[in-house]
Amino acid sequence: MPRVMFHAAAGEPLSGDAPALCRILEAAERVGAVVEHACGGQARCGACRVRIEDGLPHCSPKSNAERALTTADPRERLACQARFIGAIAVRALGPLPPEQRDGAGPVTPRVPGYPV
Ligand code: FES
Repeated sequence: MPRVMFHAAAGEPLSGDAPALCRILEAAERVGAVVEHACGGQARCGACRVRIEDGLPHCSPKSNAERALTTADPRERLACQARFIGAIAVRALGPLPPEQRDGAGPVTPRVPGYPV
């Protein structure tokens, strides 16, 4: 099983193992790391935005849904969408302000009430 490490804003990083092809958000829950999420993992809120600090080649390709809620930086991903097959290190970023999104896809939430 691949190793995953979550860097926190304060304190020691949390790490553990997760099954190959696990979503980053699921891995966070497995190791007790906090990654915000507000849309049930439907790629609509952007709250789960993370930066892959190490191991980007081990991650699935960035989807159109992810591009809509992140910058053009390939290391910025949605934890609810990105999967990984090898060791990665991650830092939670939180949602990107709408004016900083790269406009690669729809940015209007499809479900009213979710923060953007
Ligand atoms: S949990 Fe909402 S975009 Fe990932």
